[in-house]
Amino acid sequence: MSDLDEDRIVSGNNENTEEASIEKSLRPTTLAQYIGQDRVKHELSVYIQATKQREESLDHVLLYGPPGLGKTTLAMVIANEMGVQIRTTSGPAIEKPGDLVALLNELQPGDILFIDEIHRLPKIVEEMLYSAMEDFFVDIVVGQGPTAHPIHFPLPPFTLIGATTRAGLLSAPLRDRFGIVAHMSYYTIGDLTEIVKRSADIFNTSITEQGSHEIASRSRGTPRIANRLLKRVRDFMEVSDKSTIDEQIVSKSLHFLRVDKQGLDEVDNKILKTMITYYHGGPVGLGTIAANIGEEADTIAEVYEPYLMQIGYLNRTPRGRVVTEKGYQHLGITPNQTN
Ligand SMILES: Nc1ncnc2c1ncn2[C@@H]1O[C@H](COP(=O)(O)OP(=O)(O)OP(=O)(O)O)[C@@H](O)[C@H]1O
Ligand SMILES: [Mg+2]
Repeated sequence: MSDLDEDRIVSGNNENTEEASIEKSLRPTTLAQYIGQDRVKHELSVYIQATKQREESLDHVLLYGPPGLGKTTLAMVIANEMGVQIRTTSGPAIEKPGDLVALLNELQPGDILFIDEIHRLPKIVEEMLYSAMEDFFVDIVVGQGPTAHPIHFPLPPFTLIGATTRAGLLSAPLRDRFGIVAHMSYYTIGDLTEIVKRSADIFNTSITEQGSHEIASRSRGTPRIANRLLKRVRDFMEVSDKSTIDEQIVSKSLHFLRVDKQGLDEVDNKILKTMITYYHGGPVGLGTIAANIGEEADTIAEVYEPYLMQIGYLNRTPRGRVVTEKGYQHLGITPNQTN
């Protein structure tokens, strides 16, 4: 992610440690506390219950969806509901097969290994995961040259939970080894309103129904952003003469932070504006947009574009990205009929 993105108030990403510790305190620990994602939750609760009755380990789970939708949180909830330990790591952190063996070696029967950003696993590690996931063993080669020989290393039955923001980047053999694939979708404003109320409660902060709703509707369908906006708005409230967060305080503070009514910030608007001003609204390639606004193409694809598409401001076509009529309306520009 670029520097710009780390500071971005409406980014779903979380790379700052103060926020990480606050997130921890806000994390629901049971499925019942986990708000929204009803389909995923219902499916998981059935599998968890059945697996517990059979006293087996849960099938491997793949969670995918944009940043900040609660993948890590859900992995921890699953561990808690299963009553097992969870070990957390990430794709880029496992550099060589030996690293993976070391992690697997520490697992007790039924435990969970959570690999975040699983699409970034080195190929050689990924291939080793195949037999680990399927038949609970790994073959490791010990020694070098003529003395090199394979060792068959049995593993306890375990559950792998993989999380990725880009399911498309996962290889088919890896994807196929997950028995449970959960697609996390953007949260409804209703669900986000509940999340804001719950977090305000944990913060001991008073907030009105409209205030919660207003934060929710500007959170791009993302709980992490809802919590972040709540924190900022709370700061504004505390230095004002009010003791409750209401709609007015939310509007005023978010206006100050340049988060608009749809939750879009300057970068989102810049993407749309650049496409309209220089490329007649598209089609225009991702790389071109990225170069124009000084962002990384990956960041646009992962963080900005999914939400702009979700709210119908942007379309992806084989020839590139296109601003929709709704996108034009948002900026108050009339589409040129000759395009
Ligand atoms: N369903 C939920 N109910 C209540 N709070 C939630 C929910 N999902 C996420 N949150 C809140 O949002 C924060 C971010 O969630 P989490 O870290 O799990 O996202 P993530 O999908 O793992 O993000 P990333 O892709 O960046 O790793 C959590 O700390 C939690 O407070
Ligand atoms: Mg995460």
